[in-house]
Amino acid sequence: MNPTCFIPVLTVITFLCVKLQTTSAQEAPNDDEATFLYFAYGSNMLTKRIHINNPTAVQKYIGFIENHRLDFNGFSKRWQGAVATIVPHTSSDLKVWGVVWKINMKDLPHLDDQEGVKFNSYFAKSVTVNIPGGNRVEARVYEQCRLPDKYVRPDLLPPERQPSLVYLSTMTEGAKEFGIPENYVRYLESFKNNGYNGSMMVNVEKYGSKLTKVQS
Ligand SMILES: *[C@@H]1O[C@H](CO)[C@@H](O)[C@H](O)[C@H]1NC(C)=O
Repeated sequence: MNPTCFIPVLTVITFLCVKLQTTSAQEAPNDDEATFLYFAYGSNMLTKRIHINNPTAVQKYIGFIENHRLDFNGFSKRWQGAVATIVPHTSSDLKVWGVVWKINMKDLPHLDDQEGVKFNSYFAKSVTVNIPGGNRVEARVYEQCRLPDKYVRPDLLPPERQPSLVYLSTMTEGAKEFGIPENYVRYLESFKNNGYNGSMMVNVEKYGSKLTKVQS
């Protein structure tokens, strides 16, 4: 397990301190409108999904991050399947595309809750996002605390690592909504799914964000 996962609270506090420091230069202190950037690469790429928990989110950019690949792991009751994570990865052949949202600081705890930070499902870190046109921005991103053991080709994912069809469709719909390159959308579609196609709204509130390991 990533050692960072033992200190999610420290991560949040550190982030808040850094954020306060950087925003105070341009904005009045205690500004209610203080915001942060969030890089979404999973279901939160889709506007109607991110707005459930983060109504202040405004789409700013699309972009990709390097030194990571996309994978699926854990079992989400909400989605009835494995859910997306970034995995640190040294080879430069794989990139992770996503949507950069500008979110009001008051939604930060909601985002952490959605990502199950307090259950050690995901931890937050900062990444550099490459924006088409050559610019780069720093954004908050979430990575699963328990990463998949090894790389498996997307079309060969074993059952316990397959996302549900509804989850994968939410991701591809979000990617298409903001014009993420077509070849990346096809790459998303190449991940083997488990066929579950229930409504994404079902149980969103009922279940927390805890990821469990499928008992085999
Ligand atoms: C999955 O559900 C969506 C929405 O309910 C529907 O449009 C789509 O055709 C379904 N896909 C499959 C493969 O059944």
